[in-house]
Amino acid sequence: MSGFDTRWLDLREPADHAARDPFLLDAAGAYLLAGGEAPLAVDLGSGTGSTLRAFGSRAKATRWRLVDNDPRLLEAAVSRLPDGEAVERVEADLTHLAPDVIDGARLVTASALFDLASRGFVNDLAARLGERRIALYAALNYDGGMRWEPPHPVDREVVAAFNRHQTGDKGFGPALGPGAMEALREAFTEQGFDVRVAPSPWRLAAEDEALHALFVDGVVSAVAQTDEVASSRLDDWAARRRETPPLCKVGHWDVLALPR
Ligand SMILES: C[S@@+](CC[C@H](N)C(=O)[O-])C[C@H]1O[C@@H](n2cnc3c(N)ncnc32)[C@H](O)[C@@H]1O
Repeated sequence: MSGFDTRWLDLREPADHAARDPFLLDAAGAYLLAGGEAPLAVDLGSGTGSTLRAFGSRAKATRWRLVDNDPRLLEAAVSRLPDGEAVERVEADLTHLAPDVIDGARLVTASALFDLASRGFVNDLAARLGERRIALYAALNYDGGMRWEPPHPVDREVVAAFNRHQTGDKGFGPALGPGAMEALREAFTEQGFDVRVAPSPWRLAAEDEALHALFVDGVVSAVAQTDEVASSRLDDWAARRRETPPLCKVGHWDVLALPR
């Protein structure tokens, strides 16, 4: 299991939904719906089903297969479906992706996943989707940019250390971290896909207090593991960031790769 908890995923979902590029989401939905009767979308690293919910009414008349290695999250995803709706759930480790996981798909989706993954995983996925002419919609790939308002003198150091931590092994080998969008663009372009990208930054404001607090905790915990920022400076930074939730922009990119 990967250890993502539902509280974190629930808190980030409204920020994620607000951040997703609406044009790429519409284009992904239109591509899926054009796939004949009840086309299949396979959501990799589905968590509790945020991507399925982001598709909203675009998901009507389509089928979904949710894939995750955490059975608790899959259970939560199913429990949140409206009455009468069903999805296929597959408990699987993506680091050993069995070919049948994507069988029959018209569209593979993922959100907040590829920054955890390795270049090898992305290249391999692009090759498999290319062979089968399956499209990819990959939302919310962290790009390494974090801008706080008001700024703090230690921001730059904290973000640099956080970004280095992002490239550590998250189960797939060295992670792409902030390089995920570029790796997706390169790999899918190489396989002949028509690749479109769009920014999808989080813009956290004072009212996102609970998400902001957990986000700061996550940044502090990651940075502390790097030993790259003196603990007194990190403590000072964290105290200031917890005091008053500032405005914070966190860079992400969405990617849509359609077979030509
Ligand atoms: C940051 S969460 C994103 C969840 C969901 N897509 C969302 O946007 O809310 C990453 C998800 O990838 C899943 N995951 C991470 N490593 C995995 C692996 N090796 N195999 C399958 N799922 C994995 C986690 O369990 C988690 O649900």
